[in-house]
Amino acid sequence: MYKTKIGEVELTDKKNATVTILGIESSCDDTSAAVIRDGVILSNVIAGQKVHEEYGGVVPELASRAHQQNIVPVVDRAIVRAGISKNEISAVAFTRGPGLLGSLLVGASFAKGFSLAAGIPLIDVNHLQGHVLALFIREREGAYNPPKFPFLCLLVSGGNSQIILVRDYLNMKVIGQTIDDAAGEAFDKCAKVMGLPYPGGPHVDRLAQDGNPDRFTFSKPRVAGLDYSFSGLKTSFLYFLRDNLKDNENFIRENLNDLCASLQYTIVDILLNKLKKAAKQTGIREIALAGGVSANSGLQNTLKEYAGKHKWNLFIPKFEYTMDNAAMIAITGYYKFLNNEFAGQDVVPFARTEL
Ligand code: KG4
Repeated sequence: MYKTKIGEVELTDKKNATVTILGIESSCDDTSAAVIRDGVILSNVIAGQKVHEEYGGVVPELASRAHQQNIVPVVDRAIVRAGISKNEISAVAFTRGPGLLGSLLVGASFAKGFSLAAGIPLIDVNHLQGHVLALFIREREGAYNPPKFPFLCLLVSGGNSQIILVRDYLNMKVIGQTIDDAAGEAFDKCAKVMGLPYPGGPHVDRLAQDGNPDRFTFSKPRVAGLDYSFSGLKTSFLYFLRDNLKDNENFIRENLNDLCASLQYTIVDILLNKLKKAAKQTGIREIALAGGVSANSGLQNTLKEYAGKHKWNLFIPKFEYTMDNAAMIAITGYYKFLNNEFAGQDVVPFARTEL
């Protein structure tokens, strides 16, 4: 019998039993469900929401409505793709926060209902912890080469830029973080002022490949310790464009590739300077990336080059596990299950949570 905060759930002996976790993610604008069995991914279904594109950013009210429409078919598809039946699921894990409250409520309510109906435990997952543990998702085939503890994880997404000291699966400490905007926000907001679609990060990345990163320079923050700041860069980029547009109304169009390359170079440089400092301070050479921005080719290439020179062991999750997805929630749920960390039906989502 396993105790949860509201009662007891009967399960077979955990040591010998197969542990199958249904994960649910609904923190922003992707509805996702995944099934993980004994750490191995069986399915990971993601439904994006195109409705936000015309607004140039996520509209919270529209996001929660779309989650409400998507959640049942997405979970159904994840279970079918996994090739299992509902009664083989050992526990349901969901994103508790941080994220948009209305969106989180859809996933949390669904998970609670599923847990009650199936008589299985409920597990609440911190979205940021999920991004880090995405590094431990095992595929059915292929090599499994996760980082060794302790390692440093640079978590860079649309809402976060953090350096995390990861001591164990469930023991993490934030040692540096942004004091204002996140790196993804800097990409997206600067992309928006150049007239690129939302989210702008991947567009900047693509356009930067044919640009000159040394052509323009933008201001870099002076923040103490291991913390980041990206709001100054955003403002400096905006003023730079405004001044140049006064003289040439086609300035952005004529210089788009160089603008993207120089912007990307600046963001990557800011991110890596603090990461190098953290590695030096802690003496740790196991370095990992996580979060949506880790897909950035400039970040990956610069980091690979540096890692090669300085003998860092570098770990980058597969692209599909870097963005918001339920596989990372399911894998975190798996480790919490093994550690007997369950939630009760009275658990509530949080828009803001620390690790
Ligand atoms: O982790 P994620 O999917 O969602 C959050 O939890 O925020 O990250 C989304 C962010 C967006 O800001 C998006 O522009 C950025 O990741 N992103 C990229 C790239 N791919 C996604 N930024 C730069 N280069 C990319 N290739």
